[in-house]
Amino acid sequence: MSLRPLFPQTRLRRLRYNKVVRNMVAETSLSADDLIMPLFVCPGEKVKNPIKSMPGNDQLSVDMLVEKCKELYTAGVKSVLLFGIPESKDEDGTVATHEHGIVQKATRAIKEVLPDMYIIADICNCEYTTHGHCGTIIDGDVDNDSTLVTLSAQAVSLAEAGVDMVAPSDMMDGRIAHMRSALDENCFEKMPIMAYSAKYASGFYGPFRDAADSAPQFGDRSTYQMDPRNSDEAIREVEMDIAEGADIVMVKPALSYLDVIYRTKHEFNIPVAAYNVSGEFSMVKAAQERDWIDGNRVMMEIMTSIKRAGADIIITYHAQEVAEILNKR
Ligand code: PBG
Repeated sequence: MSLRPLFPQTRLRRLRYNKVVRNMVAETSLSADDLIMPLFVCPGEKVKNPIKSMPGNDQLSVDMLVEKCKELYTAGVKSVLLFGIPESKDEDGTVATHEHGIVQKATRAIKEVLPDMYIIADICNCEYTTHGHCGTIIDGDVDNDSTLVTLSAQAVSLAEAGVDMVAPSDMMDGRIAHMRSALDENCFEKMPIMAYSAKYASGFYGPFRDAADSAPQFGDRSTYQMDPRNSDEAIREVEMDIAEGADIVMVKPALSYLDVIYRTKHEFNIPVAAYNVSGEFSMVKAAQERDWIDGNRVMMEIMTSIKRAGADIIITYHAQEVAEILNKR
């Protein structure tokens, strides 16, 4: 970079005095097209069970979920990420593979009313296992290779139900390759995989585990999710997932890991998603409720920072609110 003349020749404020020119030179743009809204679907009818730690979010029965999707679609949010709260759980989470499982039902119901809503299914066992871990327990360990089998079965079952994309969030080794072949063998070679590639063992998932009833009953997830101290390792995770056939790679959480988003975007030519997780959302809402911050302003700033770091896609519980603000501009 060549040396620039300093003040008074250069005045960086010259391009800040007028809104038109500010918009003209803006380096980052945000659009409702970039947003994915996570939703929680539960059994029953007319159920709208508020999630206390995530103001404005609810566990919704299929009928209410469809109504929510209509609202989102009208606001311009055309993609949802579904999490299921099943009727019953088992040891290895096979309830998630049932033809009439909760997410399978929800998918069919949404597609019937809103065929263009883009449905992404989170693929993981933790909402479906009695112990709350993301895989099958063998000798006290979340067993990697047997978990691959249930995860791939879940992905195929959801593909059959009509989802548009699958997003494995378990962090088992080798799951992308395993899932890719399982999908291909079942004629779903067109189904994209969005891999939760750099998913950290994070305290920011607290509210989600209430929402999805998926807290581990013993231990924690640090034998499979990543250590927050590492970013070279994130690059290896991303590299492996791409080699195994991931179409989109994800970094999660977003805000404490903007450096990882940046590195991922700059080291690979592949779409990058960032998950602005439950704890990140709830902190904004909690401070807003106390009038300590301007919640909307902070929300938009957070979205912009995630994009500026290099994310193409943002998964966020703010999706509808953000889209509504963008629509007014
Ligand atoms: C399932 C899963 C989790 C989240 C997304 N998928 C929880 C976890 O790993 O414990 C967290 C999302 C959020 O906090 O918003 N494995």
